[in-house]
Amino acid sequence: MSEVAQTLNACLASVRGKTDFHPEIALILGSGLGNYAQTVRVECEIDYHDIEGFPVSTVVGHKGKFLFGFVEEVPVVIMQGRVHYYEGYSMTDVVLPTRLMGMLGARILFLTNAAGGIQDGMQGGDLMLITDQISSFVPSPLIGPNVDELGTRFPDMSHIYDEELQNAVRQAARSLSIDLKEGVYAQFAGPNYESPAEVRMAKMLGADAVGMSTACEAIAAVHMGMRVCGISCISNLAAGLSKHTLSHREVQETADRVAEMFQQLVTESIRRMKTE
Ligand code: HPA
Repeated sequence: MSEVAQTLNACLASVRGKTDFHPEIALILGSGLGNYAQTVRVECEIDYHDIEGFPVSTVVGHKGKFLFGFVEEVPVVIMQGRVHYYEGYSMTDVVLPTRLMGMLGARILFLTNAAGGIQDGMQGGDLMLITDQISSFVPSPLIGPNVDELGTRFPDMSHIYDEELQNAVRQAARSLSIDLKEGVYAQFAGPNYESPAEVRMAKMLGADAVGMSTACEAIAAVHMGMRVCGISCISNLAAGLSKHTLSHREVQETADRVAEMFQQLVTESIRRMKTE
């Protein structure tokens, strides 16, 4: 068995020693959804530090946990605090939590993030349904020996974002009168924001938004046969597209401003997803 499979099995056993909860949907919370847990009927919480073999840095202040509970009546596992490539983790470690949530039973991965908007007409505060992605600027999380227990060596990526799930999000947005944008998400490594020239490049390549997460998680999920959907909170216009410089504060403030709408969209989308 590969080293990755062994680590995953150890993490799975560690979690199963604490809960027998079986989630149907795995939700990764990005900026702006930090408070989403408040709307969830939480049954159990597990700190990343308490999971044997889990990739948490020992850097003081790195918080994160899995929450197990119900959104409406749907059993979910929520990743509160994600692991980013720019923190120095290997891509294998970055996607370990995603794989673990899949192994815990979740057949759907619901990704959320904050991103810089590129598409003409976008504004800070918009929400964007992710319809496809560009991950070519970061290493694939599948590099290394294939984890045969999870999936095939050369997985197809023609339909990363599940059509039915996209439609559930579109319908949810319509029912909430949210003007939902749609487009292609491009992942850059970060942690620096892009230069204006990089943003122009991304636009030429077909990207509608740029961010520092998500695409790698989607690849790992598709590899293991999970169905994926994703929504970006456009927290700012990408570098060079507005007059002012970028700051994490702006990202946070915009994300906070639209947090309630974002939360409503996630809950309504989950309600409309057929999990069977
Ligand atoms: N670029 C990359 N990641 C981001 C941005 C951005 O402009 N905004 C929020 N996350």
